[in-house]
Amino acid sequence: MNKAILSFVLSVIIGVGLGYLIYAASGGPGDTPPEEAAATAPASSGTQATASAGSTQTSSTAVDQNNILSQRGCLGCHSVSALGIHAGQVGPDLSQAFNEVQNKHGIPIEQFLTKPNSAVMSGVLGSKPLTDDQRKQVLALLKKASEVKQAN
Ligand code: HEC
Repeated sequence: MNKAILSFVLSVIIGVGLGYLIYAASGGPGDTPPEEAAATAPASSGTQATASAGSTQTSSTAVDQNNILSQRGCLGCHSVSALGIHAGQVGPDLSQAFNEVQNKHGIPIEQFLTKPNSAVMSGVLGSKPLTDDQRKQVLALLKKASEVKQAN
């Protein structure tokens, strides 16, 4: 009886201790990177969304987080690292799509976005095509991305 209680208490102590060690090793609390701390400080003057969209600490190419690609769900499968968009991994990173689609798929990007010749993208756009206006916005973003000097 006493032994059972003792071993229970011991295992709790060991468990908590181990948990804390792992927690401390993985960063712990007071480990916020300085940029992040600095970035959150002035956010009091605006809404959270505009604070992050307008902040310059990541890169000058940061785009509106509520862009056409996120509105149309493209980011569920795609990232655009050149624009600081690190999102879906299912599809290719679209940073150079503006230049590469012609070679990769044999049709101009405008056409790819109208009537894709890839099975996955036909499925994505087939039932819900981009409007002309949306396609223009996508093209503008992808063009912008392709013009960014790759930092990595
Ligand atoms: C369900 C996941 C999915 C979604 C959602 C999706 N895509 Fe894709 N996309 C893919 C995959 C996978 C490929 C690669 C196709 C291939 O190579 O045959 C691709 C390819 C592309 C390409 C060609 C890029 C390249 O390098 O081959 C473009 C451009 C593109 N997608 C744009 C978009 C846009 C714009 C949207 C939003 C309207 C979107 N995608 C939504 C999965 C997706």
